[in-house]
Amino acid sequence: MPKFRGVKRWAMLFSAMLLSSILLAACDQNTPSILNPQGPVASKEAGLFWFVLVVATIVFVAVEGVLIYSIVRFRERPNAPMPRQIHGNNTIEIIWTVAPSLFLFAVLIGTIYTMFNLSNISGQGRTLEVKVVGHQWWWEFDYTNDNIVTADELVVPVNTVIHTTLESNNVIHSFWIPQITGKTDVVPGHNNDKVFLASTIGTYRGICTEFCGLQHAHMSFLLVVKSQDDYMSWLHNQQAVAQAPTDAVAQAGMKIFTGSGACFGCHGIVGVNLQSFSDPHANALIGPNLTHFATRTSIAGLVLSWNPQSCVVGTDSSGKPAIQNPSACGLYQWLHNPQAVKPGNDMNIRPLSDTEIAQLVAYLESLT
Ligand code: CUA
Repeated sequence: MPKFRGVKRWAMLFSAMLLSSILLAACDQNTPSILNPQGPVASKEAGLFWFVLVVATIVFVAVEGVLIYSIVRFRERPNAPMPRQIHGNNTIEIIWTVAPSLFLFAVLIGTIYTMFNLSNISGQGRTLEVKVVGHQWWWEFDYTNDNIVTADELVVPVNTVIHTTLESNNVIHSFWIPQITGKTDVVPGHNNDKVFLASTIGTYRGICTEFCGLQHAHMSFLLVVKSQDDYMSWLHNQQAVAQAPTDAVAQAGMKIFTGSGACFGCHGIVGVNLQSFSDPHANALIGPNLTHFATRTSIAGLVLSWNPQSCVVGTDSSGKPAIQNPSACGLYQWLHNPQAVKPGNDMNIRPLSDTEIAQLVAYLESLT
């Protein structure tokens, strides 16, 4: 039946295409790869991956080789006699018990050695201490010895040991920066530690890798690695309190921010509703600290990018403040309807007019 064979061939081709599209979907250039490590911890983990791959390849080639050889060499032929039966052969049974044990033992030794060696790293200068808090669904970075707080962007100096304490006050998350360090669970009531170091200046994507609710997929963050000097100037800027805006539109935005039942019920700004970065009132605020929001590049777990250049505040036809290019402005989309951008998140706000959004954007742009 040639017609049926044609259908079958197309079905097979279609299945192969579907399968390859799933596999190739992972080949995005921005996908962080554990095989492109940029720090000693990830390098050790990648080394373990290659070691296990080599062992597994040897086993695969040997087993499949013997299997294919046997299938061909000892296949059934017409009138062939009954093959020699080897059931109960002690020598063969000992060999196929001992050989896999040796391979598995090699993998075990390699894994244990790597595990106990991971935090054995050294860098320049002091160790940077960071308390990492997993929220639903964003990351808080509390620099305990540098006394600043950021969200979704962990900025660190290059070649410096970073010691993190991983905390959660809600569900289990998992902290992972594929090119820098492997996964560690962030468990409520049980703080884990993690030590890593980035040896190349750049920006690396971090991911939550434990299902933690509706927006688990939108709980990414950035590790921004700066030179020692750039880090120090960034840090000095972050340690400053927020400056009151001088521009009238931004001043109107600040008024909305601090109005009754408004933004500052959830968000903290040092110099506005927080005395300092260690102000205990911050514990009552469920949203990210926005003190130097304008220095960040993303919003809400990297759902949207944030760049003041794409959010130009001008005026509309009636002379009121308005965002010139709302479709290119991630912050406009976020303030316009945060539940449409990231359904289920904690930002439940009253609808804001376009004028109010423009004023708020102007204020947030002033938080440099
Ligand atoms: Cu947090 Cu998944």
